[in-house]
Amino acid sequence: MKPLRVLSLVREGLIPPDDLEDYDEDNPPEWKMEYDVNSTLHNLGLDVHTLGVLNDLGPIRQSILEWKPHIAFMMLEEFHGVAHYDQAIVSYLELMRQPYTGCNPRGLLLTHDKALSKKILTYHRISTPRFTVFPVGKKVVPPKRMRYPVMVKSTTEDASFGISQKSIVTNDKALIERAEFVHANVKTDALAEEYIDGRELYVGVIGNKRLQAFPVWEMLFTNMPEDIARIATSRVKWNTKYQKKHGIDTQAAKDLSPKQLGDIQRLCKRVYRILNMSGYGRIDLRMRPDGEVFVIEANANPNLEYGEDFAESAEAAGFNYEHLIQRILNHGLRYDAAWQQ
Ligand SMILES: Nc1ncnc2c1ncn2[C@@H]1O[C@H](COP(=O)(O)OP(=O)(O)O)[C@@H](O)[C@H]1O
Ligand SMILES: [Mg+2]
Repeated sequence: MKPLRVLSLVREGLIPPDDLEDYDEDNPPEWKMEYDVNSTLHNLGLDVHTLGVLNDLGPIRQSILEWKPHIAFMMLEEFHGVAHYDQAIVSYLELMRQPYTGCNPRGLLLTHDKALSKKILTYHRISTPRFTVFPVGKKVVPPKRMRYPVMVKSTTEDASFGISQKSIVTNDKALIERAEFVHANVKTDALAEEYIDGRELYVGVIGNKRLQAFPVWEMLFTNMPEDIARIATSRVKWNTKYQKKHGIDTQAAKDLSPKQLGDIQRLCKRVYRILNMSGYGRIDLRMRPDGEVFVIEANANPNLEYGEDFAESAEAAGFNYEHLIQRILNHGLRYDAAWQQ
């Protein structure tokens, strides 16, 4: 049998090299996820063609028409430099009748907008921090009865862009300053939500109709000084030196009862369904000391890098990296897009 043809879609400039010769663990290259996925696709014996895309659909169309890939492995996280245009790319793939991995257009649309997804979750009585939105271009006027502390962040950006210790504010003046900072620097609406002091949890979910949740994963801040809030700022997420210094690491959540773990996994599968996600995703949560769990956000197409939370938690559930990538391909091949019906 001829191997499956896989069109690997990555951002221009992130086409990975064939080997990890120059890899520096303390300074990981931007294309590490693309490398891990592509090399695994090769190891699975698949026929892989990688396309770097920046702002032109032409080459995607041409590759689809000429090479007829069985599936596109969707690793494009932006188009024209805009993160939420990944939704337009998968829409385009559907218009081309091209199966692809990861989330469908509607799920991407809903999850990229944190305010919109929180409105939908609230309708379904799922616990998420109370919030208000300050639109870009409008004067920031805090509501009269704002309960502090409050977390201020972008409604649409991800990867902790614009998130630092200063994102937690305790009065109107600081709230206005931080919302204006988001407007000026992240250039999006600002979301101000109730700050949840507690544990930081992540849950990977995989599937289209029948879902599986991976073990509840926790970010630990083992050596973080007491006066620094334990939140995933951009330094915490991306600065390896900072991570080592403050003992930041992730692992299966400990000291939770089987019931608590099961409830959290069920909650995450519900969130995944309600937000119309497919393929694979990761739900971010915070758990208060009294045990109450809040959904912070849902991530469609989370980071697939080897050793990252999603892959690590899959491994804890018994799926090694190769198996995980194979499952993601299978869910993409089986996704029942409208054009197939
Ligand atoms: N309401 C909140 N309460 C406490 N911490 C929060 C809250 N919102 C966000 N955070 C912290 O900021 C991090 C990033 O926020 P998140 O909404 O997940 O944005 P991103 O899309 O950048 O991951 C979270 O992982 C968490 O540590
Ligand atoms: Mg997050």
